[in-house]
Amino acid sequence: MQLVNPPLIKREQIQQKVSQLAKEICRNIEVENLHVIVILKGAVFFASDLLREFPPIASLDFIKVESYQGCSSSGVIKIYDSNLPDVKGKHVLLIEDILDTGLTTQTIFEKLKEQNPKSIYLCVLLEKKKHRREITLSANYVGFHIEDHFVVGYGMDYNGKFRNLPDIYALDLE
Ligand code: IMP
Ligand code: MG
Repeated sequence: MQLVNPPLIKREQIQQKVSQLAKEICRNIEVENLHVIVILKGAVFFASDLLREFPPIASLDFIKVESYQGCSSSGVIKIYDSNLPDVKGKHVLLIEDILDTGLTTQTIFEKLKEQNPKSIYLCVLLEKKKHRREITLSANYVGFHIEDHFVVGYGMDYNGKFRNLPDIYALDLE
């Protein structure tokens, strides 16, 4: 198992995209009233870069979930926080690292929606181009569309490793 060189997405491309996304979001949403929820752990680098380009937001929360073992979805979504943030009547922005099957994010999205927020937007750094069955969720803001690689770096991991790398790499699983 090794990183494929060169990186799939270099740090300069990430920075540029994050700034572009921040501008787009701030143009469309009233950020002062925005309650941001970051899905841990993978989205933490993306969210901290993105949010530093925003004017003051209303609040910041985290949800910790796990669905992956190695490089495939276990299909079982573990949400660690049984008390999800209170979003009733609020404008919410959910930030996630990557949509693969979309199952994890859709599960959280639906649970938050049950509380009747005023609005709820989804921003993801990466979206895999694969066909998704049974998942109706689509992101309002997407950084990059990628092929069906398993990727690591910039928050994303393989069994806990590689999260701290500043660039995004495909992982060769041979
Ligand atoms: P999904 O439920 O299949 O959409 O997977 C979502 C979660 O699995 C993401 O939030 C990531 O944490 C993780 N994941 C999916 N694909 C990758 C990948 O290529 N690299 C690292 N983590 C991934
Ligand atoms: Mg994640």
